[in-house]
Amino acid sequence: MKIAMIGTGYVGLVSGVCFSDFGHEVVCVDKDQRKIDMLENGKVPIYEPGLDALMAKNVDAGRLSFTLDLKTAIDGADAVFIAVGTPTRRGDGHADLTYVMAAAEEIAKAAKDYVVIVTKSTVPVGTNREVREVVAAANPDLDFDVASNPEFLREGAAIDDFMKPDRVVVGVETDRAAGVMSEIYRPLYLRDFPIVTTDLESAEMIKYAANAFLATKITFINEIAALCEKVGADVKQVSKGMGMDNRIGNKFLHAGPGYGGSCFPKDTKALARIGQEHASPMHITEAVIAVNEDIKRRMIEKLQDLCDGTFNGKTVAVLGVTFKPNTDDMRDAPSLTIVPALVGGGAKVRVCDPQGQHEGEALLPGVQWLDDPYAAAKDADLIVLLTEWNEFRALDLGRIAQNMARPAMADLRNIYNATVTREAGFVAYDSVGRIGFS
Ligand SMILES: NC(=O)c1ccc[n+]([C@@H]2O[C@H](COP(=O)([O-])OP(=O)(O)OC[C@H]3O[C@@H](n4cnc5c(N)ncnc54)[C@H](O)[C@@H]3O)[C@@H](O)[C@H]2O)c1
Repeated sequence: MKIAMIGTGYVGLVSGVCFSDFGHEVVCVDKDQRKIDMLENGKVPIYEPGLDALMAKNVDAGRLSFTLDLKTAIDGADAVFIAVGTPTRRGDGHADLTYVMAAAEEIAKAAKDYVVIVTKSTVPVGTNREVREVVAAANPDLDFDVASNPEFLREGAAIDDFMKPDRVVVGVETDRAAGVMSEIYRPLYLRDFPIVTTDLESAEMIKYAANAFLATKITFINEIAALCEKVGADVKQVSKGMGMDNRIGNKFLHAGPGYGGSCFPKDTKALARIGQEHASPMHITEAVIAVNEDIKRRMIEKLQDLCDGTFNGKTVAVLGVTFKPNTDDMRDAPSLTIVPALVGGGAKVRVCDPQGQHEGEALLPGVQWLDDPYAAAKDADLIVLLTEWNEFRALDLGRIAQNMARPAMADLRNIYNATVTREAGFVAYDSVGRIGFS
């Protein structure tokens, strides 16, 4: 199959690289000259483990290329994937479809022969039909189908998720489009990965429902964590006991500083908005959005308590600012709420993150970036564990405590515990959903 991939971000680039690894001929298109220049020079513009090697392999094999020119990319393509951003629209929470519709129109104007226009971006129910209208209006003679193919990959594990998915969801209207999509995903069919073929609306809804459900699960355990602190229970034990129930499962059941990232915040808001527009309120999702904001505020109060009520004049070391480990993505990361609260409160903030500095520098003004967690913690009054990078999972706590001005730790990912931190010499420790000490 010949595939054009519009958008070379976290989803488009991974999808394009993986499709080429399936054996398809893939051209990735982006409007961002800097990204295309980097890609043409063999450099990956994002941090995603394993992507550089897989990309190089497929470029060398002649199956993968990059361009700014959408027209040449879609020449002779069997399918064109739209994988552009759908951020929250300013003001009303709706998904901003400007980039999707602009891409659809560009495709329409450039396409000559039958093509399947596939939306991989996360889009509200009804968008694929709108794409069809936009394309038909822009090029009335074009023979085409639309298909919905939402993506479920997780940043940090994106290649594995794409190559070994729990399922692939495909929404189509015609047998011809179904045929093209099954040819594209044939390597996964052959290895018995489940493919859910359905209508356009159901495919679009599956993506939002899945993300809202996962955000709900995280928020539920975060709210239980707050209650655990009040009643003297340990949320890690509670999660373990709950997660062993097969009906519940142990994933997305780790208490922390609230969900963030490129998907959950915007997709929950978009689903709530879709519900409002159709007079079918998404009460649960709306509560999840509000509770998640409360959770982030609660984290700031914890830090304040560990700093004797004020950040003013304190030195705080923050370990991890990306929204999760193994990515450089900072979109809607909890750090974007927590770090400005520290800086605004008068703290001197040092930040250490294995991949976050490039994106984070512009987003977190007034902080000092350090590569070494021990250097960041030296003479500090508080160390905050905010993202659970492997680099922070086995720190020499004794060495850290010894070199801090006042050894206090806010462990917002529950990596350590009260016993080990006390033994290491910390005088104060707090985590999420467990009893600490001060
Ligand atoms: N990031 C994730 O983990 C993830 C997972 C599943 C689904 N999604 C969804 O996938 C979509 C893309 O997300 P992302 O994180 O990859 O976004 P991103 O912002 O990383 O990448 C989008 C890219 O599209 C490019 N672009 C925009 N308009 C274009 C056009 N007309 N022609 C060519 N290029 C264009 C941008 O320059 C950018 O490089 C979103 O709808 C998102 O919700 C994301």
